[in-house]
Amino acid sequence: MESLQLRLLLSSVLLVFVLNAIPAARCNDEEDNLFQGINKYRASLNLTALTKNDNAECLAGKLADQFQDQPCTNTTGANTIPGMENQFPNFPTLLEKCHLNVTNTRDGIIMPACVPNLVPSLVLSNYTQNVIYSENLNDTKYTGIGINTEKDWVVVILTTSTPEGGYTPASSDNAASSPSSRITFSFHLFFLLLGSFFYALN
Ligand SMILES: *[C@@H]1O[C@H](CO)[C@@H](O)[C@H](O)[C@H]1NC(C)=O
Ligand SMILES: *[C@@H]1O[C@H](CO)[C@@H](O)[C@H](O)[C@H]1NC(C)=O
Ligand SMILES: *[C@@H]1O[C@H](CO)[C@@H](O)[C@H](O)[C@H]1NC(C)=O
Ligand SMILES: *[C@@H]1O[C@H](CO)[C@@H](O)[C@H](O)[C@H]1NC(C)=O
Ligand SMILES: *[C@@H]1O[C@H](CO)[C@@H](O)[C@H](O)[C@H]1NC(C)=O
Repeated sequence: MESLQLRLLLSSVLLVFVLNAIPAARCNDEEDNLFQGINKYRASLNLTALTKNDNAECLAGKLADQFQDQPCTNTTGANTIPGMENQFPNFPTLLEKCHLNVTNTRDGIIMPACVPNLVPSLVLSNYTQNVIYSENLNDTKYTGIGINTEKDWVVVILTTSTPEGGYTPASSDNAASSPSSRITFSFHLFFLLLGSFFYALN
């Protein structure tokens, strides 16, 4: 009886870990590909590499969520002139969810693109060959980057090293949800299950 309980518990713990890790790993592949591709492009222009910005990545995720159900057309994606504030009335709420506001994001730039199945080479060339996007990638004022994908959509946000575009809240309120929150969640659940297991033993 007890060993059955133990086995059930261990397999549910394992399942939780696996379910949490799979989608994160798949998304991170697409995002890492693009991150590395963009930095190679920067290197070819003799520019410094962009560093990852967690809050920008968080906002990119919220925007990708908003875009995900729009189909790719020849007027979406790299053909869209960025202007999220007008496109999404809930933009201030999305900022807030990532511990950001208009003051610390003003000078950053948001670049969405829609590429069926997110074919990596097409995603990269949508950024490096689009006139506006490639100009932004070739701009020394940008030092940070946040990338997120959802379905066929990818959102790239470039940040500056100034307070107006740094995507950095002034306070220590900096815990925007990042991939690590998923793992933290798994750990919490793990200890919760562990706790109930010992409770059950008693
Ligand atoms: C980058 O720097 C190298 C060496 O300084 C130079 O040969 C090359 O022309 C530069 N490329 C660009 C795109 O500025
Ligand atoms: C987009 O596609 C439509 C029809 O498929 C075409 O009429 C239109 O000219 C295209 N627009 C651009 C910007 O390519
Ligand atoms: C950008 O992505 C579209 C698919 O949405 C693709 O048809 C197009 O060739 C890509 N453009 C470039 C320059 O890679
Ligand atoms: C990048 O920017 C520099 C300086 O503004 C410019 O001379 C160069 O032609 C640009 N290169 C590309 C590929 O856009
Ligand atoms: C944005 O947040 C900063 C602190 O992170 C604060 O100083 C600033 O007043 C806020 N701006 C707006 C418009 O809320």
